[in-house]
Amino acid sequence: PGVISDASRLSVPRFRYYQNVCTQSYSFVWWDWPRWEREIDWMALHGINLALAFTGQEAVWQRVYLSLGLNQSEIDEYVTGPAFLAWNRMGNLHTWDGPLPLSWNLKQLYLQYKILERMRSLGMIPVLPAFAGHVPKGLLRVFPRINATQLRSWSSFNCTYSCAYLLDPGDPMFQVIGAVFLKELIREFGTDHVYGADTFNEMSPRSSDPAYLSGISAAVFKSMTGARGRAGWVGAQGGLAGSQPDFWQPAQVRALLRGVPLGRMLVLDLFAETQPVYQRTESFFGQPPFIWCMLHNFGGNHGLFGTVESVNQGPFDARRFPNSTMVGTGLTPEGIEQNDMVYELMSELGWRQAPVDLRQWVADYATRRYGARNAGAAQAWQLLLRSAYNCSGLCVDHNHSPLVRRPSLHMAPQLWYNQSDVYEAWRLLLGAAGELGASPTYRYDLVDVTRQAAQQLVSDYYLEIQRAFQKGALPELLTAGGVLIYDLLPELDSLLASDGHFLLGRWLEQARATAASAKEAELYDRDARNQVTLWGPNGNILDYANKQLGGLVLDYYRVRWSLFVSALVESLTSGIPFHQEKFNQAVFQVERGFIYNGKRYPTQPAGDTLEIVRRIFLKYYPQAMRRGQ
Ligand SMILES: *[C@@H]1O[C@H](CO)[C@@H](O)[C@H](O)[C@H]1NC(C)=O
Ligand SMILES: *[C@@H]1O[C@H](CO)[C@@H](O)[C@H](O)[C@H]1NC(C)=O
Ligand SMILES: *[C@@H]1O[C@H](CO)[C@@H](O)[C@H](O)[C@H]1NC(C)=O
Ligand SMILES: *[C@@H]1O[C@H](CO)[C@@H](O)[C@H](O)[C@H]1NC(C)=O
Ligand SMILES: *[C@@H]1O[C@H](CO)[C@@H](O)[C@H](O)[C@H]1NC(C)=O
Ligand SMILES: *[C@@H]1O[C@H](CO)[C@@H](O)[C@H](O)[C@H]1NC(C)=O
Repeated sequence: PGVISDASRLSVPRFRYYQNVCTQSYSFVWWDWPRWEREIDWMALHGINLALAFTGQEAVWQRVYLSLGLNQSEIDEYVTGPAFLAWNRMGNLHTWDGPLPLSWNLKQLYLQYKILERMRSLGMIPVLPAFAGHVPKGLLRVFPRINATQLRSWSSFNCTYSCAYLLDPGDPMFQVIGAVFLKELIREFGTDHVYGADTFNEMSPRSSDPAYLSGISAAVFKSMTGARGRAGWVGAQGGLAGSQPDFWQPAQVRALLRGVPLGRMLVLDLFAETQPVYQRTESFFGQPPFIWCMLHNFGGNHGLFGTVESVNQGPFDARRFPNSTMVGTGLTPEGIEQNDMVYELMSELGWRQAPVDLRQWVADYATRRYGARNAGAAQAWQLLLRSAYNCSGLCVDHNHSPLVRRPSLHMAPQLWYNQSDVYEAWRLLLGAAGELGASPTYRYDLVDVTRQAAQQLVSDYYLEIQRAFQKGALPELLTAGGVLIYDLLPELDSLLASDGHFLLGRWLEQARATAASAKEAELYDRDARNQVTLWGPNGNILDYANKQLGGLVLDYYRVRWSLFVSALVESLTSGIPFHQEKFNQAVFQVERGFIYNGKRYPTQPAGDTLEIVRRIFLKYYPQAMRRGQ
């Protein structure tokens, strides 16, 4: 409350929202309380006053389903592994990598008590989950006459793991389930009367009839109010309209929004820095009010990128928009722990009356971040600002670099910036080591910028490999392939392994630490590996949540590249054409092999970051600058 009234005195928009439903899986999934505590501190320091609090809901659903008459195997069959729960909750996925052990539910329940207690004590409004209409198949056994229809398959999953059942909004059971769930939820956690629910995340409804769509949102909203009479709905409908613009014409968006009484819904314009929905819907038709959100990152990928100009202008354009109903700004990344600068910038803009002078801002940022003014570091940040962070037009919000993709002969690395700027920033940042070397944020950035330089170099080597193969030049192919596999990728891996923020071992051991038995630990370990690689049993959403982590670069990306280069060499020497399909089948075994390799990875950094960076720099900087021209 304090935060909100201060904000109104300053006449900045009232809300500063945080989280994407996917952040729960891509970043928070394995967190313990100390990590949550830090995050909530960070939220408080940045003035966040509205945030999702979706942890622990499976424990409540477990009870609800049992009370509705489902048996345990029917529940187990429905719920996914922990790393995929975000999509289970939205009806995109079921079954995959499950069942969820009951011990998971209990631990998450206790975590949620603490999360809520802390959020509330800091004046934040937690947004709790509500019933969106998706039901387990088992419900059809218990209630054979309910009117539920199967949604179409989601992404590249077939109905083994997708095509969830959606209850018809007119079916009386809709309100029963919604009310039972909320009653249990509130009994457990209390409520601030604000809920979130996503019925059509990346899925087309069965009908585009406006009456059907407003029926759905009316039913979801009614079930939110059922329990306590009053409720507000924070909906991501804005983002949904952006993801399937063909389906979500203005009439459909309006119908979905207008199913809810005026004044009771708040919409998140989820990806407003790139696809603002408010602009093509006359500010959501004047109702409901909306929050201008920066999504920035899909899948929590590493990689330097950002659209600083649109982030800097966007919220103010939205406020000035005719009859604007914008009431706040938000951060909605699918994954965090990357590109801190962009999040600091966006958070600060939520408190400002006008855009900042980006060049000045980033110079000050460098000083604040490293605790000292350093000319080289400030210059490095100017270069990063105008290059990697100044994406416009064909933008990336995802890392599609060849480094993190399954190799093929048809990749075209596309950069939206002058890569020499990054190499130059690398040189300048390294030059500041004498003065800033003791600062942990400096060391982190040095690793990250070196990582970006290495990623660019991988693209160069890839292009050389491609050219050499097409020319039939075996020596060139062996040279470029050799450097890539036996030097550059191992160097990148050792760089990452020298910093605790870039360790595969941390991700996996955190997953193991949430387990209550050795068997569960194995399950979580595999679940954690699958998310950052195959994303499904068959590589269904392959490398979407790619990360550059010490351990992963060596044992996953490098092994894949090694197989690729060998296949090309073999093709040149034998004269048998390279077959991508055949290669894909072989490489799938490698990818899967990584998930089941049974290896444990260190959770402590090893090696001297500065020494490693200097070594990579001496080896690669001269040619990097030559190539970058
Ligand atoms: C749950 O119900 C299904 C369908 O009747 C049945 O096949 C299964 O054996 C039951 N499981 C348990 C644990 O009772
Ligand atoms: C559906 O996908 C699963 C795993 O992705 C696969 O094992 C199964 O054969 C597929 N089923 C059909 C009918 O294609
Ligand atoms: C079932 O729901 C659909 C819409 O979801 C509706 O068109 C149909 O009339 C309903 N059937 C019954 C029997 O209520
Ligand atoms: C703003 O709202 C007013 C009152 O509803 C309306 O008359 C006017 O046309 C709107 N302006 C624009 C640009 O939509
Ligand atoms: C970003 O690029 C645009 C041109 O594409 C330029 O006008 C703008 O000044 C650049 N911004 C920064 C911060 O470098
Ligand atoms: C790219 O950046 C480098 C160093 O920052 C600069 O010297 C060069 O002129 C730039 N090239 C282009 C085409 O802008």
